[in-house]
Amino acid sequence: MPEHSSTTASCRVNGDRLWSRLMAMAEIGATPLGGCNRQALTDGDLAARRLLSAWAKAAACTVREDSAGNLFVHRAGADDASPVVLTGSHLDTQPTGGKFDGVYGVLAGLEVIESLNDRGVATRHPIELAVWCNEEGCRFPAAMMGSAVWSGRMPLAAAHALTDRAGRSVRQELDRLGIAATAPVVRSRVRAALEVHIEQGPVLEQHGKTIGIVTGVQNMCRYEAVIEGQEAHAGPTPMNLRRDPVRALAQALPAIYAVAAARGPEARLTVGIIETSPGSPNTVPGRVRFTIDVRHPDATEYARLRSEVEACVREALAHHALAGDVRCTWEAPGVVFDAACVGAVRAATAALGYQALDMVSGAGHDSCNVAAVAPTAMIFVPCAGGLSHNEAETASPADLAAGANVLLHAVLALACAA
Ligand code: HGY
Ligand code: MN
Ligand code: MN
Repeated sequence: MPEHSSTTASCRVNGDRLWSRLMAMAEIGATPLGGCNRQALTDGDLAARRLLSAWAKAAACTVREDSAGNLFVHRAGADDASPVVLTGSHLDTQPTGGKFDGVYGVLAGLEVIESLNDRGVATRHPIELAVWCNEEGCRFPAAMMGSAVWSGRMPLAAAHALTDRAGRSVRQELDRLGIAATAPVVRSRVRAALEVHIEQGPVLEQHGKTIGIVTGVQNMCRYEAVIEGQEAHAGPTPMNLRRDPVRALAQALPAIYAVAAARGPEARLTVGIIETSPGSPNTVPGRVRFTIDVRHPDATEYARLRSEVEACVREALAHHALAGDVRCTWEAPGVVFDAACVGAVRAATAALGYQALDMVSGAGHDSCNVAAVAPTAMIFVPCAGGLSHNEAETASPADLAAGANVLLHAVLALACAA
């Protein structure tokens, strides 16, 4: 079996094959504005998993699923019982997502397998490519769900019980799609895990760098806030007699943006959902529900920002004498990636001669959960304008191939070593 040496140093991925597969996958759930709407456990998600599985089986790999909805492609190693080198990402997208978020990490992992097959390279350790279920956490409100169950950070029952806005549960959708809802969630022994992803921010492009050597991920959490009022007629009800939850919202929003601004340029606060009910133009709402996504790379600043955001909402409720609540419904604490895995990424990047920059990820990734149970690191490549979670998301074929080459050589170094 060739060690990772001169015979493999010249290995490069097939960028054309990678790009054409990205474009083929992008047709599943394609939106009129050039993006993808392939949300978790929809028919589109199933079609994408089937397409990937077909490519993987044609590449002499085996495919299995688990009851968290995760899918694993296995490329046998010379010592197939030894711990795996894990790569992968997610195929589910935001409602107005792009062609590359998550998908690139899955297809780059497949491209690594294909490139090793092309060169007849056997590795000591098996290589596994994971397709994590419901990374986005938009349809079912817990981001990085599948990897959270796999890593033991989320009970399977809690994942199965998550429901979308139509009230359909993860478990019902797994059953509807015929995805192995009863297969055990088995965590292979992992020697190392590497995920390649578009940066989803502007830093690499601004610095003119090709590769992000990702040393960690920032702290993040998601709140759900509810303000209770009283439904009333929009016409005859005097303003001073209303219990209008939108008035409290109108006080809370500027206050939470102000505390985020005060926590410096690295603070992140996003109000992604605002819903009134009953949602009639001529009925004073009886309830407002909104989400607040809060992130910061510094643990102390993050904690302060969280408590200030909660206080702002509670002050608005008190000022308007309305009932309600603000509660954290999901959290992914910050992560520092494994030094040896980061070192493998750095060495591969240097050997390939790419310009690189160390960075902390602003976005959450399944690697946050994988890192809880295995040595893990990530690789970033630029995306145009740093734009992501947007149908205009795009990246250059050359950068995508570069990231896949770094993944190839980092995986080779880790999978060939004893
Ligand atoms: O929210 C995130 O950072 C990821 O895209 N799920
Ligand atoms: Mn992603
Ligand atoms: Mn995303």
